[in-house]
Formats: sequence, C-alpha cells, structure tokens
Amino acid sequence: MGKAIEKIYEEALAELETASDAEAVKVISVRYLGRKGYLTKFLRNISKIPPEERPQAGKRANELKSILAKKFAEASNRFEREAAEAIDRIDVSLPGRIIRQGSLHPITQTIRQICDIFSGLGFQIAEGPEVETDYYNFEALNIPKDHPARDMHDTFYVSDNIVLRTQTSPMQIRVMEKQAPPVRIIAPGKVYRRDSDLTHTPMFHQVEGLMVDENISFGDLKGILTTFIHRIFDEQTSVRFRPSFFPFTEPSAEVDILCVMCRGKGCRVCSQSGWLEILGSGMVHPAVFENVGYDPKRYSGFAFGMGIERIAMLQYGIDDIRKYFENDLRFLRQF
Ligand code: FA5
Ligand code: MG
Repeated sequence: MGKAIEKIYEEALAELETASDAEAVKVISVRYLGRKGYLTKFLRNISKIPPEERPQAGKRANELKSILAKKFAEASNRFEREAAEAIDRIDVSLPGRIIRQGSLHPITQTIRQICDIFSGLGFQIAEGPEVETDYYNFEALNIPKDHPARDMHDTFYVSDNIVLRTQTSPMQIRVMEKQAPPVRIIAPGKVYRRDSDLTHTPMFHQVEGLMVDENISFGDLKGILTTFIHRIFDEQTSVRFRPSFFPFTEPSAEVDILCVMCRGKGCRVCSQSGWLEILGSGMVHPAVFENVGYDPKRYSGFAFGMGIERIAMLQYGIDDIRKYFENDLRFLRQF
C-alpha cells in the first residue's frame, strides 16, 4: 500500500515536467489534489488499509500532498513571472504585419455612382427578384409569344413559366402595379442571358429607369439621359439618340456616346464607328400602361435600361468584360 502512494507522487512529478504554462499546472494540480484527485481519493479510502499500516500510510500521504501543493504553486508562479517578462520584452520597433484592405468591386462602385446621380435627380431606388415569371419578364412588357428573345437559346428557363430575368424591365411592371403615378425610379440588378464573348457574359448588370406622370415627353427623356451621361463621364461627352425598337416602348431610341477611347476617330473598341451604344430607351408603350391599370390617355412616361459593365468598361478603359468576373486580385486592386 505504501508503494501505491509513492507511485502517485512520482507520476505527479513526471506530469508537472510536461507543463509549459500556469494553465497546464492548474490542470495537473486538480488531477492529483482536487476533490476527485488521485491523492485525495487515496486519503479518502485509507480505512481500507490494514489497521497496522494505516498511521504510517496516512502520514506519508499527507506529507506528499503538501510537497506537491508547494511544487505546483512554485511552478505556477514561475510560469506567470516568465509570461509577464515576455510581454516586457516585446520589441515595439519591429515593423507591424501589413493588413491588406479589401475594396468595393468596380461594378459595385459604378452601380453606386449611377444610383447617386439619379438620386440627385429625384429618382428612388427599387429592387426585385432575379428569378421571374414569364409574365413579368415578357408578357406584361408586350413581348409576344413568338418573340426571338423568348427562345431557349437566349433565355435561361427554370421551368416552362419561370425564367432568370433577361432584363431589369420587369421592375417597371412591379413598381407600377404597386403605386399610382407619379413614378420616378431606377432599379439596378443582375440579369442573365445565354451569351458569352469579349463584350457579353451570361450574367451581367443593368439599371432600369422609369419616369411616369402627366405630360412627360421625349424631351424629358433626352434631358435626363443627357444629364446622366455628362455626370458619369464628362460634360464634353457627345450623345446621340438613334431610332430603335423595343416591344414595350414607342418610339424607342438607343443612346450612343462618342467613343471615349478614340474620341470618334474609329478604333477597335467602337468597331471603327466612332460611337458606342450604352443603353436602350423609349416612351412607355400604351399596352404596358394598360397591363398595370394606368390610363394611357392621361399618363405618359419614359423608360431606359443600361448595361452597367458596358459603362464601367468605358469609365476605366477595360476592353474585355470577362475581366470583371475572373476575381483576379491584380485586376481588382487597381480600383
Ligand atoms: C434591354 O435589355 C432593354 N430592357 C432596355 C430597355 C429598357 C429599353 C427600357 C427600353 C426601355 P438590350 O437587350 O439592348 O435592351 O440590353 C441593354 C444593354 O445591356 C445593352 O446596351 C448592353 O450594354 C447590355 N448587354 C446586353 N447583353 C449583354 C451581355 N450578355 N453582357 C453584358 N452586357 C449586355
Ligand atoms: Mg441593344
């Protein structure tokens, strides 16, 4: 029985050797001297020892208990002192670790600039779903069943009746269904098309704009869009309105700006034409007003939709749209 207590003592010392901080010493101390510790248990069971050995074993156990308690306390104090000294020894003249700061994605920056400019012109910002019904993406926008944009080759279909929106124009319908005129909103967001090359990606961003009230004319459309273009590029930027067609506007116009790369001389970016298309626009079609319950005789309005990547490419002189989505930090850190 005497042997058992000596063995517990030896083991406690061996374990103490492995401790490297005060925390570890505390754990070991609890394991031996705590309420359920090995030494404590030994003392508690001392009545099971033959009576003649009992006094001797009890005395020895108490002796070892106080020796261990002292050793644990010493080790613990030593570790705490060392830790305090280590803090004093920190060399404050060493250079710190460089923490790289993240930045907003260039497309996010351009979206915010666009939103700021239109907020300044009194437009509110609306957002809506990227997964749309056929009704909002096509039908309500006067896009007939046999329109080529509805083809499986151009549109991602989730099911017969559900698509990934191909444009932000469904937001026109969603906003007008909810509120009566006057309306003055923009709606930025992601859109999806089965498209991929230097200037097209399967996911890209558009900003929709819509202004409806009594007596809104094509002159208002030209004024707002020209002001916007002068603010996002610069006052000198030449703007051209070119007749076009969209099923949900009549008349319709696409808007070009004088190529910011060559200033109209003709280059690779503008395919030698000197002009760059940045958005589609037009006066809201009466059929669209009827679909949302607005009286087309009383109200008129204009709408527009622009490709944000296209604008950002021109702002920063980027000639490949895919660079925006490759997440190459060498590219992204430049913004
Ligand atoms: C439309 O999407 C119409 N909803 C715009 C509109 C709104 C007209 C309101 C009238 C009234 P369009 O398909 O041309 O139009 O696209 C608009 C812009 O999105 C284009 O000028 C182009 O800048 C951009 N775009 C189109 N496809 C892609 C693509 N795959 N990748 C990147 N940008 C694209
Ligand atoms: Mg177009």
